[in-house]
Amino acid sequence: MQEEIDELIEQWGTEHNALIPVLQEIKKRHAVINSFAMQYVADRFSISPAEVYGVVSFYSFLREENHGKFIIRLCRTISCDMAGKDAVRRQLENDLGIKFGEVTPDGKFSLQWANCVGVCDQGPAILVNEQIFTQVTPEKVHEIIQACERVYENTPDSAKKGHPNDHT
Ligand code: FES
Repeated sequence: MQEEIDELIEQWGTEHNALIPVLQEIKKRHAVINSFAMQYVADRFSISPAEVYGVVSFYSFLREENHGKFIIRLCRTISCDMAGKDAVRRQLENDLGIKFGEVTPDGKFSLQWANCVGVCDQGPAILVNEQIFTQVTPEKVHEIIQACERVYENTPDSAKKGHPNDHT
């Protein structure tokens, strides 16, 4: 994150009018501007973190979280980690062509991390919107994504949030 911000600042500079473009780019890449990023941006721009926070709070396009119709959250806590979380992560990223923290260009899917979701003996666990899936394997990732795609195609109003089990 720090290196990324340094690169953005190399590109945009640290004049006051560079603050919004730098914050916008962080948001685009990571979906949210976390407190570390705000603090580091403040240091680099030699302004107070409160000022950066004020800018982020004021502009809705910096504040609002970008996410897809299907938010896929993978548990990264220890039991799921030991049960094969990394293979699931790789499969999700390969199938969707995005990294965690990103949204697919068509706005259908986003990948996010979750902390323990309470099914530690059945990991790896993922949440797709509000639905929990346990003992997820790379093969199962593929099936879940296909189920989401089917829901999306069958949703008359494309703005409506879908659910992979609605039509299965
Ligand atoms: S560690 Fe993943 S559900 Fe508890």
